[in-house]
Amino acid sequence: MPEPVLKVDNLVVRYGGRKGAGTTVIDDVSFDLHAGETLSLVGESGSGKTTIGRAVLGLAPVTAGSITFRGETISNISRARRRKVAREIQVIFQDPYSSLNPSMQVEDILVEPLVATGSGSGRTRVRELLDAVGLPADSGGRYPREFSGGQRQRIAIARALALDPSVIICDEPTSALDVTTQARVLTLLQDIQRQTGVAYLFISHDLGVVNEVSDRIAVLHQGRIAEIGKAHDVATNPQHPYTRRLQMAAPVADPKKQRIRRAKRLQLDTAELSDVKGNP
Ligand SMILES: Nc1ncnc2c1ncn2[C@@H]1O[C@H](COP(=O)(O)OP(=O)(O)O)[C@@H](O)[C@H]1O
Ligand SMILES: [Mg+2]
Repeated sequence: MPEPVLKVDNLVVRYGGRKGAGTTVIDDVSFDLHAGETLSLVGESGSGKTTIGRAVLGLAPVTAGSITFRGETISNISRARRRKVAREIQVIFQDPYSSLNPSMQVEDILVEPLVATGSGSGRTRVRELLDAVGLPADSGGRYPREFSGGQRQRIAIARALALDPSVIICDEPTSALDVTTQARVLTLLQDIQRQTGVAYLFISHDLGVVNEVSDRIAVLHQGRIAEIGKAHDVATNPQHPYTRRLQMAAPVADPKKQRIRRAKRLQLDTAELSDVKGNP
C-alpha cells in the first residue's frame, strides 16, 4: 500500500475553556485517505463532519493528535508552511450561492487562485477548467447570478481544480441541489477523479449519496468514528446501531436501485446545461 496522501491520527478538537474544560467536538478520530480514493464522513448534523474538514484545512484547532499530508505534519504549522500546503488541499462547500463572490466574473473567480500563487494569469487554463466541468466556453465573462445552482457548483469545482490539488474536501457539495442536479454533479466529481487521481474527503449526512460515490465510509457519531469500512459493507451491512439509523433515514440504500433511479433522473434532465439565465 503506498503512503496515504492524507492521514489523521487521534484527532481531538476542543472549543472553549482551559485544560480539560470546554467542549470536545472531535474525539480521537483517525483515518487515512489515498490518492484517487473517496473516503466519506457521514453522520447527522452536529456530529462533527465539517469540523474535521476545517481541522484538515487548518481552520479548526487541533487540540491533540496530528494531521499529515504526504507524510509531513500539517497540523499546528506556521502560516508560511500552511500557505504552501494550501494549494494541495482544496474545498467545495454546500452553498454555491454564498461561496462565490457575486461581484466577480467567472473568469476572475477562476484566475484568482492562479494569481494568488504566482501561477500566471492563465486565460487558457480558464478555458480548460470550464471545459473540465462542462460549462459553456463563454461562461468566463458572466457573473455567478447568471447561473443555476448546479452550474454555480460547477464553477466552485472548477475553482477548486485550478491549482491541480491532491485532495478536495467536498462538504455537502450537493445537499443544496435538487435530485437531478445532484446526480449530475456527483457524476462530474467522479469523472474528474478518474481523470486526475484527486482524492476526495466527501462529507454528507446522506448515507445513500455517500454509498454512491465512496470507496470507504467513516460513520461519525458525536465526534467519534462509530465504524469505518468499505462503502458497500457499511451501507448495506452496518455493524453499528447508529449506522442502521442513518440507513433508515437515507432515501435508497441499495446501490443498484440508486443507479437505476439516477439513470432515470439523467434521462429526464436535458435542460440544466442550457439554462444560463440573462442571455440577451
Ligand atoms: N467554532 C466553534 N465553537 C464551538 N463549537 C463549535 C464550533 N464549530 C462547531 N462547533 C460545534 O461542533 C459540533 C460539530 O459541528 P460540525 O462540525 O459543524 O457538525 P456537522 O458538520 O457534522 O453538522 C456542533 O455541536 C457545533 O455546535
Ligand atoms: Mg457540516
